Amino acid sequence: MSTKPRQILVTSALPYANGPIHLGHMLEYIQTDIWVRFQRLRGNDCIFVCADDAHGTPIMLKARELGITPEELVARTGEEHRHDFDDFHIGVDNYHTTHSPENRELATLIYKRLKAAGYIAVRSIRQFYDEQAKMFLPDRFIKGSCPRCGTPDQYGDACENCGSTYSPADLKNPVSVISGTRPVEKESEHYFFKLGDFTDFLKGWITTSKLHPAVHAKLEEWFKVGLQDWDISRDAPYFGFEIPDAPGKYFYVWLDAPIGYMASFKNLCDDPKKNPGGKLRFEDYWGKDSQKELYHFIGKDITYFHTLFWPAMLSGAGFRTPTAVYAHGFLTVNGQKMSKSRGTFIKARTYLDHLNPEYLRYYFAAKLGAGVEDIDLNMDDFIQRVNSDLVGKYINIASRSAGFIHKYFGGKIGKTDGGWTHGGIVKVPADSLNMSLLDDMASVEAFYEQRHFSLAISKIMKMADAVNAYWDEQKPWEKAKDNQLGILHDVCSITLEAFRLLTICLKPVLPKVAQEAEAFLNIGELTWSSKDDHLQSGHSINAYTHLIVRVDSKDVEAMSNASKENLLKSPTQAIANMEPIFPEISYDDFAKLDLRIARIVKAEHIEGTDKLLRLTLDLGGETRNVFAGIKSAYAPEQLEGKLTVMVANLAPRKMKFGVSEGMVLAAGPGGKDLWLLEPHQGAQPGMRVK
Ligand code: MSP
Ligand code: ZN
Repeated sequence: MSTKPRQILVTSALPYANGPIHLGHMLEYIQTDIWVRFQRLRGNDCIFVCADDAHGTPIMLKARELGITPEELVARTGEEHRHDFDDFHIGVDNYHTTHSPENRELATLIYKRLKAAGYIAVRSIRQFYDEQAKMFLPDRFIKGSCPRCGTPDQYGDACENCGSTYSPADLKNPVSVISGTRPVEKESEHYFFKLGDFTDFLKGWITTSKLHPAVHAKLEEWFKVGLQDWDISRDAPYFGFEIPDAPGKYFYVWLDAPIGYMASFKNLCDDPKKNPGGKLRFEDYWGKDSQKELYHFIGKDITYFHTLFWPAMLSGAGFRTPTAVYAHGFLTVNGQKMSKSRGTFIKARTYLDHLNPEYLRYYFAAKLGAGVEDIDLNMDDFIQRVNSDLVGKYINIASRSAGFIHKYFGGKIGKTDGGWTHGGIVKVPADSLNMSLLDDMASVEAFYEQRHFSLAISKIMKMADAVNAYWDEQKPWEKAKDNQLGILHDVCSITLEAFRLLTICLKPVLPKVAQEAEAFLNIGELTWSSKDDHLQSGHSINAYTHLIVRVDSKDVEAMSNASKENLLKSPTQAIANMEPIFPEISYDDFAKLDLRIARIVKAEHIEGTDKLLRLTLDLGGETRNVFAGIKSAYAPEQLEGKLTVMVANLAPRKMKFGVSEGMVLAAGPGGKDLWLLEPHQGAQPGMRVK
């Protein structure tokens, strides 16, 4: 390369240390890794760091639940995360944790600088407190009824039914998720970062940093609303770093999380094994006047933290700010949010137990753009693309031509660098093939650089199409039959050279396949500039062994099943195994249902059915005849005298045995496993259930 290598530091968002890596996370780590590998392939210096995000209330509580210390929990999870990264070929230079000495030191330093510069305010706020658990409750640990629409069981920050947001104090009947008791409001001193002081700075920063237009637009909206002070402290008990000179107060997890990027980099710099000769220097990358490039890859959900809080903190504390923040969309599976009950909440490990990681790397690359659109992992499409494109178009080029090279030419390459004569018999358009591939590589390069991976992949597949068209035109199998060995040798050599170029193109996406292809071609490590070399005449290649095989749909099925089975082993299995929730209805839809308490005054067998019981229901003034399909679970005498709930305004239905005037409510899969609803004591027949 003629220009000087760029020096780039790249990060992916730090996964929380209380749960497994899933395929949604992998979308981000694969996206980042492809970009990083591309930069390295181009000859740039590109460092990639990540870490576990170890702090916060959920991690503290999860450790308690498991009966271990949070330190033990994060050590354990960190180990699992590292393995998942490795096995998906995520080439991080360092994987650290935010619960580290480097992070404590840097968080403390940044805080002290912000404080000295007047960017920290202290004031009291009222917050819900769980007197039994003796702790303040984060919004997500309080549930109650929505203040707007009354839907029960909503979190303290937003209603999933009507979508309104509010503060926990507005909830009706609030309950602590931790102890189940009613929380009380209590006052406590909190520390705030004065984000508003950075409004002008941030408005400037977003014009110089390379943000996607969609992200830019979001920021403009936030500026319009105005930037609020940010609460950066939490009261004990909390798993995190204590704030200097503020006993019992801890940094909120999101304060030290992005500082974890710096800490991971510092840990890398300080490790002589990873940084021999101390060539990488912390100051060079993070100092105020650093000329290095710094990119954060994140999911769109954490944009506010990365494009407002983070650059403001860095600037306020005298560090450099990011060159750009690249946000991606969310992963859906088969068109829907990942769901445990549907088997579409797929852990990285479950995937790896059944499928080759490079399939997923290829599939994500084929779908990823530079924007924030969500990306769907559709299992049929996944199988189709991997099999027909990756294997059918790319891999097959190698397997077919290698066969002839070994069979007829002792594994030796013929001419590949133009000027083919083909024994003067046939003109092969190989020069133009080769030229057009090299041309195409220039666009592939630009697409990678701009993170338009899907465009890069479709270009590469068009290149593969051209090679396959050439192969089909030349009909090497006929040349072999007709003993036209000169042409056969040319065609196979040209095709293998084309395969070499395609391998360079795919190397950021398929590092392991590329490595095996290098071994098969018997050549050194390919880089982007290797495109200007070519396989030499007389060069020996190795025997072809499968670089990657077709996806077997049975394995995909097994993975989905395992994703469901995993749930059975978890303590939350009852919830996790849930049937899918019906599409949302409005409150008005719900209000159309007239549900009433009813007393079962009589329950009788009916001749000619082993499913139904005839129930006579007293609605407190009116009697209803209802046929209920509960015979498999109840004997009539068990029911008589009991209260239950019925749908009182259901249109009557004519049945073989008479007219059914409503329905009783029961839960369960059927057979013996059916349970009729019964109200708590005190309810009276005829009362409305609402
Ligand atoms: N710990 C914070 C990040 C701190 S960065 C200083 C966090 N952790 S996370 O585990 O919830 O998510 C880690 C990354 O994975 C985030 O960028 C998030 O957007 C991304 N994803 C999590 N689920 C995802 C999908 N379903 N789809 C795509 N990305 C997803 O946030
Ligand atoms: Zn609501």
